[in-house]
Amino acid sequence: MGKLSRRAARALYKNGIKPQLFKKHPDDVHHRMVSSARHFGRGAGPLRILAHKDKRLEQDLFGLHFANPIGISAGLDKNAEMPHVARAIGCGFTTVGSLTDTPRRGNERPWFYRLPKTRSLVVHVGMANIGLDKIIPRLKRRPRQFPLVASVAVVSQKPGCNQAAIIADACAAARRLKDPALCDAVEINISCPNVADDQPFTRAPALKKLLTAVDALQLDKPVFIKMPNLADWSRYQEILDVIVQHNVQAVVVANLVKDRSAVALHDDLPADVKGGLSGEPCRERSLELIRQTYAYCGDRLKIIGVGGTFTAQDAYDKIRAGASLVGMITGLIFEGPQVVGEINAGLSEFLEKDGHDSVRAAVGTDSRLLQK
Ligand SMILES: Cc1cc2nc3c(=O)[nH]c(=O)nc-3n(C[C@H](O)[C@H](O)[C@H](O)COP(=O)(O)O)c2cc1C
Repeated sequence: MGKLSRRAARALYKNGIKPQLFKKHPDDVHHRMVSSARHFGRGAGPLRILAHKDKRLEQDLFGLHFANPIGISAGLDKNAEMPHVARAIGCGFTTVGSLTDTPRRGNERPWFYRLPKTRSLVVHVGMANIGLDKIIPRLKRRPRQFPLVASVAVVSQKPGCNQAAIIADACAAARRLKDPALCDAVEINISCPNVADDQPFTRAPALKKLLTAVDALQLDKPVFIKMPNLADWSRYQEILDVIVQHNVQAVVVANLVKDRSAVALHDDLPADVKGGLSGEPCRERSLELIRQTYAYCGDRLKIIGVGGTFTAQDAYDKIRAGASLVGMITGLIFEGPQVVGEINAGLSEFLEKDGHDSVRAAVGTDSRLLQK
């Protein structure tokens, strides 16, 4: 039943919905998608026919139960409008935000530019969100028994903004998320490529100050760090060396690609289109960073692998490289809502083929081979 429904949904999305959506400006599509998901809300139940269930995909991590490893990454649902939809389509978790304590307008529009042949979006939102006063009542209505991660932005809106003020701002948001009713984990986004600053919190001195302040909050829930998509491993290692000295349970690897020079583009991308690239251009680098992080940190930090996941193969590659969970956005937009169930069904087949009795057994199998 699930397989047939997913096949029908794929055909409908590919031949009916996507061609219409892709004729419109991506800013409009994002807006419509989120607002229709909000109206769908608790009525999203029928979408459950798209989900794939398998005991072998379940994991208990950080004291939370994940029905499967596939979830929504930060940025699709900035204002917590669609956790019910994420659960209904068969996600194992979702992430809301990145959010801030007070509302932020973000960058001037347009926020998005579509690269259909490259299978990527250029994102230049700059942390727009409606702020916690309005988001908290939504979080109180979140689905139960469904891990929800709240991503907190660590940003300045103007170049040269005082670092202590940025830390105080991020901590004000994180502190308000302490209440267990609101979220199950807090993700600290140190790597937004679209704001005025040059990601100072991806440098050791500023990161130490930030994480010392976050430790002091005693959040009593898992803390994740959203990592930048860096080509330079030694800079990346510097960040990990700081992280492992603090109360952080997982790293999300990784954010949008900022440096376009190394990206193989299959579409025209005018130089005046600002922003970081998602999707396919993130995939290889993210996989390599997952592999290196796993080899470097072992069990000290869990990894949530993000970037260019379109298929079960992409997700399984990340899991074998060391990711315990896999987050996605662009694959969902390009392939349709059934893709989460398709990926989970594909993961079940990979586990069967490789003789693993659980997804946990597959985590890091590639990286361990590399270490030998
Ligand atoms: C529309 C959109 C908005 C995003 N906004 C955020 C954000 O607010 N915070 C964040 O940490 N990452 C954000 N990202 C980055 C994603 O979480 C993810 O790291 C990146 O898109 C790579 O995953 P993907 O290839 O599956 O899209 C955004 C990505 C997209 C496509």
